[in-house]
Amino acid sequence: MKTTAWKTLWIMGLFLVAIFLPQCRTQPAEEEASLSQGKVKMDLFKEDFGRLPDGTPVELYTLNNSHGLRARIMTYGAIVVSLEVPDRDGNLADITLGYDSLDGYLETTPYFGAVVGRYGNRIAKAKFTLDGVEYTLAANNGENHLHGGLKGFDKVMWAAEPVREEAAVGVKLSYLSPDGEEGYPGNLSCVVTYWITEDNELKITYQATTDKATPVNLTHHSYFNLAGQGRGDILGHELILEADRYTPVDEGLIPFGELRPVAGTPFDFTSPHTIGARIAQVHGGYDHNFVLRSGGGEPARVAQVFEPTSGRVMEVFTTEPGIQFYTGNFLDGSITGKVGRVYNKYYGFCLETQHFPDSPNQPDFPSTILRPGETYQTLTVYKFSIRE
Ligand code: BGC
Repeated sequence: MKTTAWKTLWIMGLFLVAIFLPQCRTQPAEEEASLSQGKVKMDLFKEDFGRLPDGTPVELYTLNNSHGLRARIMTYGAIVVSLEVPDRDGNLADITLGYDSLDGYLETTPYFGAVVGRYGNRIAKAKFTLDGVEYTLAANNGENHLHGGLKGFDKVMWAAEPVREEAAVGVKLSYLSPDGEEGYPGNLSCVVTYWITEDNELKITYQATTDKATPVNLTHHSYFNLAGQGRGDILGHELILEADRYTPVDEGLIPFGELRPVAGTPFDFTSPHTIGARIAQVHGGYDHNFVLRSGGGEPARVAQVFEPTSGRVMEVFTTEPGIQFYTGNFLDGSITGKVGRVYNKYYGFCLETQHFPDSPNQPDFPSTILRPGETYQTLTVYKFSIRE
C-alpha cells in the first residue's frame, strides 16, 4: 500500500478510537443494560471514580429514571455525588452540594451526601454506658462525638451491587464495621440501598445486624438547594415539618432531654414558613432535632420543601421518629464545590432522618440500641415533584 493510503488508514483509526473510547470508560455493570418497558426507560451503570491514596478503586454508579431524575453515588462513604432533578420547565439542575471529583471528598467534607454512622449526630462527652460497661468513643467535635467519629461510615469503602425492580434501579452498598471501630462494641453488618424510582423518589433503605449490643443511628447527609447547588442560599425555600416538639440543645448542641413544644417559636414549621423568615431568632441558624408527629414505625410524610423560583418540591417520608434540620450554618465560603461554586453560610439544608441525638445517654429518648438477633431496619424517601 502507498504511504498516503497508510496515513489515511491511521487517521481513520485514530478518529474511531476518539469516538469510541469515552463510551468504553462507562461500562454497564453486568446485569444492568438499560431497562426498557414500553416507554419506561430507566438506566443504571457504573464507572471509575478514581482511587484512594492506598490505591483502592472507587466506583461511581449512575441511576436514572425515565423522567430525568438522576443520582450519582460512589462507593467511598456511600456518597450521593449529585442529584439532578427537573424544574417546572423541565430543566435539570444538580440540587446537592459536593465536589466534582473524589479528591475534594478526600480532602475535606462536612459530610456532603454521605451515609452517616455508626451514630448520626452527637453523643455527649464521647461516652455511653451499655449493660453496665462504659464505652469511650472518639471525641471529634469538641468534647463530644459526632457522626460516628474520626473515620465514620462517610469515610469507609462500601461494597456495591447493582439492583433493580420493575419501577426502580438501585445500588446496594454493604459495609462491615468491625468490633471496637471508633470505640463502638460489636461487629456491625450494614446494608444501605439507594433507589431511584419511577415515582421520582430517591429511596434509601438501611439494614444492620450486630453480634454485640451497640447503638446504631444511620442517616443520610445531603445538603440540598432546590434552586440548584451553589446558586445562592436556601432562606427563600418554604418548609413544612410535621413536628410539634423539638429537642432544645446546650452550647455543644447536646439535647437537655426535654421535648419542647414548637408552638409560638421560630421552630414551628407545622404550617409553611420560609427557612429565612425567623432564622435570625435562632442562635447560629437551625441545627436541631425535631420530634416527628408520626413517632416512627410506619413510613409517614414528615417534611415538605418548596423552592418558588424553580417550582421544585421535595417531600420526605421516613420510619424514623426524628429529623435533624440543619441549615448549613458552618459553611463559610471556604469550600469551593461543584463547577467552581463557593458554598457560603446557609447555601444548603439537610433533613437527616434519625433517632434523637445523644440517645445512648438519654433514657427517656426512644432507644437506639441494637442487640444480637435483632435487625435494624429503616426507610427514608426524598420525593420530588413540581408546583406551578
Ligand atoms: C449536625 C451539625 C454538623 C453537621 C456537619 C449536622 O448533622 O447537626 O451540627 O455541623 O452535621 O456538617
